Amino acid sequence: MTPGRTEALAWTIVGAPFALLVGNLLAGTYDVSPWRIAVQESGLWALRWTTVTLMVSPFVALTGMRAVEPSRRALGLGSALYGFVHLWFWMRQYAFDWPFLFDEIVRVFLLLGLAATLLMTPLAATSNDFSRRRLGMDRWRRLHLLIYPAAAAAWFHYSLSIRLDRRELYVHAACLLVAFGQRLYREFAPRR
Ligand code: HEM
Repeated sequence: MTPGRTEALAWTIVGAPFALLVGNLLAGTYDVSPWRIAVQESGLWALRWTTVTLMVSPFVALTGMRAVEPSRRALGLGSALYGFVHLWFWMRQYAFDWPFLFDEIVRVFLLLGLAATLLMTPLAATSNDFSRRRLGMDRWRRLHLLIYPAAAAAWFHYSLSIRLDRRELYVHAACLLVAFGQRLYREFAPRR
């Protein structure tokens, strides 16, 4: 498959849960507190795509399948977009009641979500070819290391929101540890 097609396929896969979510909202499937369900679903997908983005590198290192690399932009930008949509759904859930939202946001749980969103913003803004050329690959790569603290903040945010089933939380933790570990190894392992 050509890199262009791989990226297009990745966009289709990344966009599918959003299309489903919007379809359910429009169809009125979520009859009880639809905006709350939208907040939960979009938050989960934001974290899922973040984790999948970070797993591309370990996956390529393990399998040698470099053909998946062009999907990284769709996955990474997709995770940020789900994060922004999640924030929008949260504000919509409370009917954009700004005094209430500003009172709420200072809770540690929400501040972690906000930190993840803010860290993802420059990554989303520079995910295009123009920014890559403008910044130069070295600076662009250094800036994009922000994905690691963003993922950690999002994971802690999720861990504080969970009440019952913690299985997915542990799957994310395991994947993120693998991704962080591989990144540190690549940085500090003696060159052969
Ligand atoms: C200012 C930014 C953010 C705000 C205000 C926010 C707000 C919230 C709220 C209120 C919930 C609880 C939903 C509920 O149980 O009713 C939630 C859950 C969640 N958020 Fe966020 N969030 C933010 C950013 C993020 C980001 C950037 C991510 C991931 C990259 C994320 C991932 C999640 C996840 C995974 C959940 C759990 C969903 C579930 O209950 O299954 N959030 N968020």
